[in-house]
Amino acid sequence: MSRQAVGAIAPAEGKLGVLLVGMGAVSTTFIAGVEAVKKGLGSPIGSLTQMGTIRLGKRTENRVPRIAEFVPLASLEDLVFGCWDIFAEDAFTAASRAGVLEKELLRQLEPELRAVKPMRGVFDSRYVKRLHGEHIKQGANKMDLARQLMDEIQDFKSRHRAQRLVMIWCGSTEVFISPQDVHQTVESLEAGLENNDSEIPSSMIYTYAALKLGIPYANGAPNLSADIPALCQLAQQNEVPICGKDFKTGQTWMKTILAPGLKARLLGLSGWFSTNILGNRDGEVLDDPESFKTKEESKLSVLEQILQPQVYPELYGDIYHKVRINYYPPRRDNKEGWDNLDIFGWLGYEMQIKIDFLCRDSILAAPLVLDLALFLDLASRAGMSGIQEWLSFYFKSPMTLPELYPEHDLFIQLMKLKNTLRYMRGEDQITHLGLDYHEF
Ligand SMILES: NC(=O)c1ccc[n+]([C@@H]2O[C@H](COP(=O)([O-])OP(=O)(O)OC[C@H]3O[C@@H](n4cnc5c(N)ncnc54)[C@H](O)[C@@H]3O)[C@@H](O)[C@H]2O)c1
Repeated sequence: MSRQAVGAIAPAEGKLGVLLVGMGAVSTTFIAGVEAVKKGLGSPIGSLTQMGTIRLGKRTENRVPRIAEFVPLASLEDLVFGCWDIFAEDAFTAASRAGVLEKELLRQLEPELRAVKPMRGVFDSRYVKRLHGEHIKQGANKMDLARQLMDEIQDFKSRHRAQRLVMIWCGSTEVFISPQDVHQTVESLEAGLENNDSEIPSSMIYTYAALKLGIPYANGAPNLSADIPALCQLAQQNEVPICGKDFKTGQTWMKTILAPGLKARLLGLSGWFSTNILGNRDGEVLDDPESFKTKEESKLSVLEQILQPQVYPELYGDIYHKVRINYYPPRRDNKEGWDNLDIFGWLGYEMQIKIDFLCRDSILAAPLVLDLALFLDLASRAGMSGIQEWLSFYFKSPMTLPELYPEHDLFIQLMKLKNTLRYMRGEDQITHLGLDYHEF
């Protein structure tokens, strides 16, 4: 039976405050979705915590509980929502403008959504060039802004009588920044916050505030945010779980399904062209080349890690990989993504795969926000801290320790996630070896 468990997991008692930075398409679709599920107006499709099961023990044991019954997760009834945005509109207005969910559904959720009003954002348009909001905090310096966030968070916690909190970045993608000296230690970061260092974008100020207060943090966008040594150290020091970056939905999710399949059959790849049209505010922000560069880095990295060109130079040594995002307002949140794969097989004979994915970005992202909120809270109650690699399943650019490469294969990621849950509960790991069934 039991091998090694993380120890007792504190029960999920009382309210869990979910703090969302950015109240745009993803956040409002998530909040409205939770309220709709609570009222029986829809199902939480796409959420592992709500619909997933987990096999325990041998196949002959027939033990397959729901994940929510296997590990102690906060219930949807216990979630309360807090948000920041640089526009003052409440969640009902923001959801209506985002245009993801139908008006009729939103009308039925109006009182709950009207009650979620964003706090003023910490924002500087140097880091997100296409946005110009008015609902913004003023402060003497970046440390002062972080302190204001911390005061607001404490106030939110007591007003809503929340027992625990988690924070998820659902804000816009910031411009590309690579790690600098100021990002190396907690001390250098704190000095930089006092000195208004220009290498510290708004997302790092939120993350710093969360980690100082011991609040688990997930980053749904590709900008660095928590992924710098200083904030990883702070997470370790304060024993807080963190994870990121960039929700894995749409085209990259497809890539991490298909690429392992090609490699499993040792089929070669000479080119992968991905382009899409998207008309929401995220598309508008990504129309700025500097924000797009952050996204592009995140989207490009997956193929190389999965296909290992250094191990298979003949199959994957010369891939032309191109990713395009085109802002096209008429499509709003209903993105259309086209992929063309040029592959080759036996004796080098060429073939093509075409994908036309008419997806809804925020419909795919909302269940990920829910799972991350519940799993981060679980990790915190289980005493797990620092980078949570087992949550790589949810991200395009999973955070890892510096000496490790990220695991991108969706199926390995899922196995890792479920094995971590088994480990938490002292159950056997599932290796799929299965030889013991054939032993006499
Ligand atoms: N929808 C998806 O499938 C998906 C997938 C991967 C990543 N993402 C990322 O998730 C994020 C949210 O996506 P979305 O479609 O909801 O975008 P959105 O533009 O609808 O919402 C983002 C919101 O963040 C606000 N914001 C920006 N900077 C802020 C700051 N410093 N403080 C407070 N608020 C701020 C904006 O005003 C906006 O309302 C984006 O970064 C996007 O790239 C989305």
